[in-house]
Amino acid sequence: MAKDFIGVLDSGVGGISVLRKLVCELPHEDFHFFGDSAHNPYGEKTDEEVRTLTRNIIAQMVENGAKAVVIACNTATSAAADAMRDEYDIPIVGVEPALKPACGALPHGRILVMATPVTLRLDKYQQLKSECYSTAEVIEVPCAGLATRIEKGHLDDADLHALLGSLIGCWADKIDGVVLGCTHYPFVTKQIRDVLGDVRFFDGAAGTARQTRHLLEERGLLYKDNHPGKVQLKSSLDTSEQAKLYRWFFEEAPLD
Ligand code: DGL
Repeated sequence: MAKDFIGVLDSGVGGISVLRKLVCELPHEDFHFFGDSAHNPYGEKTDEEVRTLTRNIIAQMVENGAKAVVIACNTATSAAADAMRDEYDIPIVGVEPALKPACGALPHGRILVMATPVTLRLDKYQQLKSECYSTAEVIEVPCAGLATRIEKGHLDDADLHALLGSLIGCWADKIDGVVLGCTHYPFVTKQIRDVLGDVRFFDGAAGTARQTRHLLEERGLLYKDNHPGKVQLKSSLDTSEQAKLYRWFFEEAPLD
């Protein structure tokens, strides 16, 4: 089978925030997005569970002919990216919390890192933090429950606002920058600003899209400019409501 598409995966709709950047960066490529909404949230499972779920999705994508895979999920990247790179020789691109750009932009600032409990617990994050030589004050907030609420697509629900209030309300007007360390969170930047006031946001999606282009270019795997790129969206919750929700996140949900 021709190796012709880029597989993009997440535990649900969050990876669509990365997919949108990938499509802008690589408009002539074909993308197959798979969101594992049936098993969301990954960020509150064991490391081993996340690794197994991620491995199964990637195995399927490779079997279907993926020429590269983007793990558009910080949690799955932390738990499984290194193991997947050992197993496959196609490019496997991951995402990581944009802590380095945030520390670079706000060297004397106070930075909140919002991410899932798994992402913040794993060594990969500690490693990343140790590489940020900065005087910025960095505060981690494990945001249990937030991705699950975003999954529903009711981004202006009182319930979601109340959760944000309880997670980060104590930092209102005291924060300079927020690292969106989960790919679901770029869909709620307005709601985060409602709680924190005016802050700068940092997320890794644009960097991931550039890195994907670079790796494919290097291996001569990109389509020519006359190829009309296509996007396929799939969820492990195979219902028409879910398909509509994924479309909405891809085409309409406010981002940036
Ligand atoms: N979107 C995923 C991430 O970037 C996590 C959401 C979840 O907990 O499933 O970490």
